[in-house]
Amino acid sequence: MPEPTQIQGERVVLREMVRADVDEMAKWPRFSEPELQWANLDLTFPSDRDLYFERGRSNATRRRFVILDETGRIIGTIGLRDLDFRRGDGTLGIIIRADAVDRGYGTDAIRSLAGYAFDSLGLRRVLLDVAEDNYRAQRVYEKLGFTTIGSHLGPQIVTYIDMSLTRDEYYRRNRPSKV
Ligand SMILES: CC(C)(COP(=O)(O)OP(=O)(O)OC[C@H]1O[C@@H](n2cnc3c(N)ncnc32)[C@H](O)[C@@H]1OP(=O)(O)O)[C@@H](O)C(=O)NCCC(=O)NCCS
Repeated sequence: MPEPTQIQGERVVLREMVRADVDEMAKWPRFSEPELQWANLDLTFPSDRDLYFERGRSNATRRRFVILDETGRIIGTIGLRDLDFRRGDGTLGIIIRADAVDRGYGTDAIRSLAGYAFDSLGLRRVLLDVAEDNYRAQRVYEKLGFTTIGSHLGPQIVTYIDMSLTRDEYYRRNRPSKV
């Protein structure tokens, strides 16, 4: 299946990120939680925004999208990095803007991206890592069928849980006819 330019979720749409989106993202409110400071993107200056865009833009090993809500507003960013088509996996990352969390958008966006990863990219597994104190993210991943496959120590001596969603598990939950 050819790669779509937009991915339709139940409520959200994922669209390939363009440079102008980053100017909108620079206006996002900040997370106050100490453990989520990493999710406050440093986009103050145009040069920061150029760098952020260039580093993250889609290429052979990366796909990067903005998440749009029902009104077309950018409420987050989601993507896959370290894509390895021979191994059949890639690593998911997501940030929903601080004033739009806990409304179901993240669950919808991740389910949609996983569908694209398996149907369009032909991956066998979507991987991710999540800080062990990020309970909301863990809840979402478990709800979608991700399971723990290990853990590792990251920066600032934080333990990260390694998780994986297999294509079979995704199809079992979302496309029973394909299993
Ligand atoms: C993690 C994230 C992507 C989830 O997206 P979201 O839109 O907020 O999540 P949803 O609204 O779809 O679902 C949240 C779920 O977590 C639950 N939840 C909320 N706070 C929780 C907490 N402190 N502990 C456990 N579960 C929690 C909600 O009840 C809901 O579960 P339910 O549907 O069973 O009721 C989003 O919150 C985010 O971007 N956070 C900041 C950055 C981040 O942590 N990114 C992920 C890094 S691995």
